[in-house]
Amino acid sequence: MEHTHGEGPGMDAGGEQERVEAAAAVLGRRLPERPRVLLVLGSGLGGLADVVESPVPVPFAELPGFPPPGVAGHAGRFIGGRIEGLPVLLQAGRYHLYEGHTPATVVRPVRVAAVVGADTLLVTNAAGGLDPRLAPGSLLLLDDLLNFQFRNALVGAVLPGEERFPDMSSPFHPTLSKWAMEAAGEAGIPLSRGVYAAVLGPSYETPSEVRMLARMGAHAVGMSTVLEVTVARAAGMRVMGVSLITNPGAGLSLATLDHDEVLEEGRRAADGMALLFRGVLRRLREGSPPVGSGAPPPPAS
Ligand code: HPA
Repeated sequence: MEHTHGEGPGMDAGGEQERVEAAAAVLGRRLPERPRVLLVLGSGLGGLADVVESPVPVPFAELPGFPPPGVAGHAGRFIGGRIEGLPVLLQAGRYHLYEGHTPATVVRPVRVAAVVGADTLLVTNAAGGLDPRLAPGSLLLLDDLLNFQFRNALVGAVLPGEERFPDMSSPFHPTLSKWAMEAAGEAGIPLSRGVYAAVLGPSYETPSEVRMLARMGAHAVGMSTVLEVTVARAAGMRVMGVSLITNPGAGLSLATLDHDEVLEEGRRAADGMALLFRGVLRRLREGSPPVGSGAPPPPAS
């Protein structure tokens, strides 16, 4: 069957490839060097930007196809530079489905980062704890995902370099996870491991939804991350994810939930997060795990 450009299934997802390439061309010209890693900063975690050496900020407003993200606490810019000597790209502010952004817009920063050279995605987010043992301020290393957003940015045309049916049996790279545990141990930061469930939002969950997600195997719930990780895996990037638990899920404490609490907890935890990521980035600089499949590397002889 012949595909007619711009119509029906198989179309170029509304020119998404062109949008990504146009933004990557502008970003690439502004960055002093090719970043190895995209580090996505979740709600309130923008303080991580302070540890970047020789930072070069590139506001989303200067990139074609990057609308204003639009939530308090989300600045909307990339920052190029180095951390622990490794060239990185930070993303402060992200697009959420609950703001009305399309799945393609939500993942555009990841695709653009891949085009300018990043082969690793380190993603953070703010999340509600579904396990009563996860107190506010805890960090959770992500082992797996539950997509309760029921959207997927890979629907439609396959973009160059991405797979049609990406394997998701190991969304997070085992070596990166191992390094995160080591770095946390070194820095004396407690780090648990678990499953992140993404919901659409913007309303927080009901107590029954919190119980349901916990029974389905999730440890944390938030409104981001899953689309980005899925696209990163489709593009063969290796991925690590950390949730900052900002509050107990609805019904697990007597408190009601509000966004200011989420931001405040993020600011408090930024130092621990920064130490953790520094440790991982240092290990990445010293010896990269293989890109591609999330399968464990062969044992060292
Ligand atoms: N639910 C969903 N998203 C969140 C929460 C929560 O409790 N806390 C921070 N982001």
